[in-house]
Amino acid sequence: MARAKISIIGAGNVGATAAHWAAAKELGDVVLVDIPQLDGVPQGKSLDLSQAGPIEGFDASIIGATAYEPTVGSNVVIITAGLARKPGMSRDDLLMKNTEIVQAVTRQIAKLSPQAVLLVVSNPLDAMVYVAHKVSGFPARRVIGMAGVLDTARYRYFIAAELGVSVQDVQALLLGGHGDDMVPLPRYTSVGGIPLPELMPLERIEAIVKRTRGGGAEIVNLLKTGSAYYAPSAAVVQMAEAIIRDKKRVLPCAAYCDKEYGVGGYFVGVPVKIGGGGVEQIIKVKLTDREKQLFDASVQHVRDLIKSVKI
Ligand code: APR
Repeated sequence: MARAKISIIGAGNVGATAAHWAAAKELGDVVLVDIPQLDGVPQGKSLDLSQAGPIEGFDASIIGATAYEPTVGSNVVIITAGLARKPGMSRDDLLMKNTEIVQAVTRQIAKLSPQAVLLVVSNPLDAMVYVAHKVSGFPARRVIGMAGVLDTARYRYFIAAELGVSVQDVQALLLGGHGDDMVPLPRYTSVGGIPLPELMPLERIEAIVKRTRGGGAEIVNLLKTGSAYYAPSAAVVQMAEAIIRDKKRVLPCAAYCDKEYGVGGYFVGVPVKIGGGGVEQIIKVKLTDREKQLFDASVQHVRDLIKSVKI
């Protein structure tokens, strides 16, 4: 059986690190694409990563390109192309520039890989996944944004570190947009099956939620020259793995919701079943009035953001 083919558009920090995780997991063959002005960069990174194969023991063809032909027939395409956030810049400031970039990238991909599942990482995420959906014309289940897996991972990490327990034992769920108004659900957070509120006082949970909301900005402020990439790339590769291996994982993803949660035709973070077909189910969880209020506010922010998208 042929290996799966994963194309990664944007060979910068997130793209190249995603190639690394994908190769290490032997998810399939990888094509890393960047703009013609950077000719040599995706090729160099791909060659370097290929040479890690004998050491790490993975078999995968990894090639770099500055044109789209090598991506033809991809099963999964990860879009990381765009500008990264600089200190003081919000995700929304990136909107104009990255809309143009994601639009151009999606046109090429839709033409050459009409059956692919698109995984969008470029920010502002909730708008970029909307752009990719509109421009590709793909069914909504095959266009998914990466946000919730990352935000949830940050939240899980902070909880595990505070309690001094394994990150593997912390399960959590965050809903809403990928922004400062994401909606954590402590009631749905557990540690080895024990609900979090039984293990941690409310003030500490709130402090962790606050840090999680600012998790991206915290890293931008430390790095000064770019934004987070290890965890974002690991997150999108986990989604790619769920698709390629048809694992039917239940993960928080930015998925197209219409009647679901009363969203009305936007991409927002909700728990989904993700497998070979992309989003196979949007899972509905009960929200308290307060949680619903926070979720609606977050969705409203996504709607406002989309209003300023010109495509
Ligand atoms: N086609 C292909 N690649 C492109 C295009 C394009 N039209 N436009 C830009 N790129 C490439 C850039 O040349 C660069 O190599 O996208 C890459 C982006 O890499 P970085 O600047 O290192 O940014 P990164 O940290 O990887 O973040 C990428 O993901 O998390 C989000 O906010 C982040 O939107 C940003 C994206």
